Amino acid sequence: MDKIISIDSITKSFGGIKAVDNVSFFVKNGEIKALIGPNGAGKTTLFNIITKLYTKDSGSISFMGNSIEKYKSYELIKLGMSRTFQNIQLINDLNVLENVMLGYHINMKSNVLDAFLSLPKNKKYEKEAEKTSYYILRFLKIDNIEKKYPNEIPFGYKRLVEIARALVSKPKLLLLDEPAAGLNESETNRLLKTIFRIWEQGVSILLIEHDMNLVMNCSHSVVVMDEGRKIAEGPPSYIQNNDEVKRAYFGK
Ligand SMILES: Nc1ncnc2c1ncn2[C@@H]1O[C@H](COP(=O)(O)OP(=O)(O)OP(=O)(O)O)[C@@H](O)[C@H]1O
Ligand SMILES: [Mg+2]
Repeated sequence: MDKIISIDSITKSFGGIKAVDNVSFFVKNGEIKALIGPNGAGKTTLFNIITKLYTKDSGSISFMGNSIEKYKSYELIKLGMSRTFQNIQLINDLNVLENVMLGYHINMKSNVLDAFLSLPKNKKYEKEAEKTSYYILRFLKIDNIEKKYPNEIPFGYKRLVEIARALVSKPKLLLLDEPAAGLNESETNRLLKTIFRIWEQGVSILLIEHDMNLVMNCSHSVVVMDEGRKIAEGPPSYIQNNDEVKRAYFGK
């Protein structure tokens, strides 16, 4: 199995707008692939289709060789797909460790809030969730903030906590939606190292990002969308010098 995920001719419209227009590409097993494109290109919509938060109009997606057609979001998480969100979704009333533990419960729920509202009271299960979550915090080197609440930690840490929550379900494919948005330079450098360390564990990564330095430094391959369509794909060096890509970013 050389492809971890294969996206074939995916289309999705909202009213008259084709948010995703006949997009196809795949992520190889063990690859870091970047998905870039100007605002409104359809990147997040594609993530929402991949993770079954939105239904597609047409096309097909297979994950680890199986069509995702019959699966719900939480079932995909169990199969080894997890994601972070463009807008940080941390629960302010829970500390960092508890927020990360939600990643465990999302296994059974479709979103963070549902997971929060239905936290099980089973002690053995809680211990297991706590142990795994703490292990992930240590792996990301943020175990020092485990007892802090989201409003007590810098923005860069919040992004790492979101990533920790996505890792708790032990994904084989991690989807990151603009993890560097709002980060300063040193936080972005730390994020880059973190992405590599996750990748070294054998996790394939699909990364939506506007920070071109980060994209060019960490991805093996880049796919570019503009106005719903895929306009280019290739190694970072090729994408950097592609006229179609330059036009999409600067030509309007
Ligand atoms: N739930 C929705 N209902 C209606 N239109 C939507 C919805 N979600 C996205 N869109 C529209 O689809 C298009 C693509 O949006 P999307 O959020 O996927 O872009 P994006 O590439 O992630 O942009 P950004 O870089 O700004 O996050 C936009 O025109 C957007 O307004
Ligand atoms: Mg987006």
